[in-house]
Amino acid sequence: MNTVKTVRELRAAVARARSEGKRIGFVPTMGNLHSGHAALVAKAAQRVDFVVASIFVNPLQFGAGEDLDKYPRTLAADQEKLLEAGCHLLFAPSVEEMYPDGMAGQTRVSVPQLSEGLCGASRPGHFEGVATVVSKLFNMVQPDLAVFGQKDYQQLAVIRALVHDLNMPIQIIGEPTVRAADGLALSSRNGYLSEEQRAIAPALYRSLGQIAQAIRNGERDYPRLLAEQQQQLEAAGLRRDYLEIRQAQNLRPATAEDRDLVILVAAYLGATRLIDNLHLDLNTPA
Ligand code: PAF
Repeated sequence: MNTVKTVRELRAAVARARSEGKRIGFVPTMGNLHSGHAALVAKAAQRVDFVVASIFVNPLQFGAGEDLDKYPRTLAADQEKLLEAGCHLLFAPSVEEMYPDGMAGQTRVSVPQLSEGLCGASRPGHFEGVATVVSKLFNMVQPDLAVFGQKDYQQLAVIRALVHDLNMPIQIIGEPTVRAADGLALSSRNGYLSEEQRAIAPALYRSLGQIAQAIRNGERDYPRLLAEQQQQLEAAGLRRDYLEIRQAQNLRPATAEDRDLVILVAAYLGATRLIDNLHLDLNTPA
């Protein structure tokens, strides 16, 4: 696996692979990789002949007071994991390479509606930062397909929308969330948790499961159900950001008649913000 740091080298390597008739897959990441990321790379490797991954901690998607500075940079360990997972080329640019003219005048890509609410409410500008960097990366790599984790459910919806709306010929694949044995969704941010907080964190996924089970059992009073579970989360020590039931396909608020649902949660454990979600399709048996 080769690592390149410039757009020029990236384009040259991808052009070489294309000239050999290879199909290109792409997995953008911010590094500090875990088995969830490895699953994304492995999925791409199943589908195409040449897998490109990127590692770039994108300042444009971090708000003031967020963890941009302390976000872990672990390039050597990440390279090993990528190689093992079947990656052929790593693009690891600097901030200057990605934003040579600075960020203030950078053209932005925004996906209205889908970017509002949920994580968009507590992280203003976040999805514009994501949509902008992903658009840039897509234009640099020009992949046939790209793989993203379903753990960032709203992000995946935003990316599907931008590819559709901007007519990018890229197939977007959502890969199921990888979880620890106790249910906690793998995330680079889990590394911020103390031992005590790590023991509390699985409550998030437990709550999602209990909500899904209650809905499967016929409960349709969503406000009451959510308030009950929110209370349990807070009793466990998780500070509220949001807990919502939405329509799975467009993230609009769910009504009692909707059958394809997603339950989404975000909560703070100390200063660490964790998110998770559970897709619940009532048209399919449990
Ligand atoms: O999900 C992430 O790691 C990031 O938001 C992404 C898609 C790599 C864009 O910076």
